[in-house]
Amino acid sequence: MQQQGRIRVIRGDITTLDVDAIVNAANQHLGGGGGVDGAIHRAGGEEIMAETRERYPDGCPTGGAVTTGAGRMKAKWVIHAVGPRWRDGRHGEEELLAAAWRAALGQAIEHGARSVAFPSLATGVYGFPVDRAARIAVREVRRALAAGSGLQVTICTFSAGDEEAYRRAVDESSQPAGA
Ligand code: AR6
Repeated sequence: MQQQGRIRVIRGDITTLDVDAIVNAANQHLGGGGGVDGAIHRAGGEEIMAETRERYPDGCPTGGAVTTGAGRMKAKWVIHAVGPRWRDGRHGEEELLAAAWRAALGQAIEHGARSVAFPSLATGVYGFPVDRAARIAVREVRRALAAGSGLQVTICTFSAGDEEAYRRAVDESSQPAGA
């Protein structure tokens, strides 16, 4: 029997999860920073940044994703995804966020990951409204799962409000059209 992919929403520290791949909310320079990016580099150790500098000296465009090892963390890979900085919603932010989720899901599948955990990309320092971000994220995950990847996707939120937003988006997306 073919394994069906799944999506689940939790709240916690993404750096502690026992999954094949962890997604990082990175910036175009892949230079590290605060938020979940800082936490991932601290937990994984210096080898993640060393590999990033060597393999991706030019960084990664917004809407893209690249992969490194995960250093000391349980995961095998860190997928560095670059979401957009929210301006006013009229600068292609929604499409760029969708592209970042697609790129990261594509990297997970390409590397043969069976499980991947995402933070709430772009909704921290980058200011993307979380309800909108959650709907886009869940739509892109559902599309990837519908394509038969068999991937287990965890969305690892960090606050009760964010957890609610993603749970709502999952519930809405699982209702039949018109219900
Ligand atoms: N586990 C899970 N989620 C976390 C953790 C954690 N350990 N720590 C923070 N979050 P942000 P962005 C949540 O700001 O908006 C960095 O400086 C956090 O509460 O990390 O994409 C980069 O270098 C929020 O809900 O990422 C970039 O310059 C979510 O992770 C820039 O910030 C994402 O918030 C990227 O900004």
